Amino acid sequence: MTPERHAPTGTGDPLLEPPPGCPAHGLGPGGLHRLHEADDLDELYEKLREQHGPVAPALLHDDVPMWVVLGHAENLHMVSTPAQFCRDSRIWTPLNEGMVKPDHPLMPHIAWQPICSHAEGEEHKRLRGAVTSAMADIDYRELRRHIKRYTQRLVNRFCEEGRADLVGQFAEHLPMGVMCHLLGMPDAYSDRMVEAARDTLKGTETAIASHAYLMEALGRLAAERRARPEDDIAGRLVTHPAGLTDDEVREHLRVVLLAAYEATVNLIANVLRVVLTHPGFRAQLNGGQMPVYEAVEQSLWDEPPFSTVFAYFAKQDTELGGQRIRAGDGLLLGIAPGNVDPRIRPDLDASMQGNRAHLAFGGGPHECPGQDIGRAIADAGIDALLMRLPDVQLACDEDELRWRSSIASRHLVELPVRFEPKAQQDIRQQPSHAPAPAQRTAWHVGIPRPEERPEPKAPAHPPEPVSFTAGRPQPGPEPQQPRPRGAWQRFLLWWRGY
Ligand code: HEM
Repeated sequence: MTPERHAPTGTGDPLLEPPPGCPAHGLGPGGLHRLHEADDLDELYEKLREQHGPVAPALLHDDVPMWVVLGHAENLHMVSTPAQFCRDSRIWTPLNEGMVKPDHPLMPHIAWQPICSHAEGEEHKRLRGAVTSAMADIDYRELRRHIKRYTQRLVNRFCEEGRADLVGQFAEHLPMGVMCHLLGMPDAYSDRMVEAARDTLKGTETAIASHAYLMEALGRLAAERRARPEDDIAGRLVTHPAGLTDDEVREHLRVVLLAAYEATVNLIANVLRVVLTHPGFRAQLNGGQMPVYEAVEQSLWDEPPFSTVFAYFAKQDTELGGQRIRAGDGLLLGIAPGNVDPRIRPDLDASMQGNRAHLAFGGGPHECPGQDIGRAIADAGIDALLMRLPDVQLACDEDELRWRSSIASRHLVELPVRFEPKAQQDIRQQPSHAPAPAQRTAWHVGIPRPEERPEPKAPAHPPEPVSFTAGRPQPGPEPQQPRPRGAWQRFLLWWRGY
């Protein structure tokens, strides 16, 4: 079945629309479901799977028709068959027929841009090649060390309070700090930068100004690297043999920053929520039966940071999941419904430990090139946070938690927690939950002990501040004497980036 091409309908008068709870609520022309009106999208996807099988017709805002790909195998087939499906919205029939108005809420996803996410064939290879090789030389042990330090900084901001919002004060900050560092602008990381990214992605009324703020910072970085290349993502993009123009460099810095930011924020928040609300899960983590990276992987199955990706487009008439797809049709990459396809997960409670076949990073030629960075930020960051706050507890009822949902993603709004107040720690130290140390001033004069000395750093990166509160007298940590460790423990610490 092919979605009918419907003219935009709806009375526009909410009093004449069927109210929530009525069986006709959320239905559009042809009895098709409007995805954006669903109270629970997961429930709707299951209903659609039952009614239509692994590929179902549905409606977007303004009753624009769209296939939703629900099957795991069908999603994989779609992303891996570039001869039949592409990401170029310029071939999308409803757009070409004028059904999609310029102010359509999905326009930021729909509008074609000259970036790797929308490009195909040789042009995709050129742009994506530059992006992947800019990330290829990342030293993951060094990266994990930075992630731990950013975590220490962030925890230092609230550890003495005994309470925090782990979305607003942790999950939304850590990926920005790490990404600014990786891109080559560690000094640009600030609360304003986090706010600008959050605002841009939410599309609030200040989104345009926030987007301009981000683009200005990225434009400055691109120009600086053009003048003086450095060994960071921006420097490698500028010098790549693909010969990206200044605009292309800036646009790809934006794609990388925002793709990394949004997805990793959601991933961290989702894992932390499960840790705080499922005592069994936490016991497994504490008992060492499940390392944090496995908890991250389980979350990528159960609550993928992007629930769907908008969109793939059929290049020719074809068939998918028993449906006849016409050239020019649009298809949503159904990550969340694909991950719970009963054909691959008959028991949703069964652990997926060791299985990375989820769709959270897409697949095929557009598969996420930054997945290992996203995994590392979530894994090392959550590990370090739990080391600092082992007694962290949810500070509200679980059912008081709220999400901001769209067809594309689900974002936890707040994760309030409480814990016994803790002393600050030197950001260079291995995160620990040792008792509050004796006070000292951050500016004391003397020869630092070996464990106080900064770690050797890669020459490309500017020196780290000595402590998050350096420069003003603060109750500071007395670095603990290192306990003698066995060879295996030392290896594990080295491996985990301490
Ligand atoms: C948990 C974190 C992340 C998740 C869940 C995620 C997920 C995704 C998904 C679903 C896609 C689209 C794939 C497709 O169209 O088939 C994508 C594309 C992309 N992601 Fe990620 N991502 C994450 C982190 C990152 C990071 C950290 C970076 C960069 C450092 C990054 C850079 C990109 C880029 C550049 C693309 C476009 C690739 C292309 O079209 O060729 N992502 N990501």
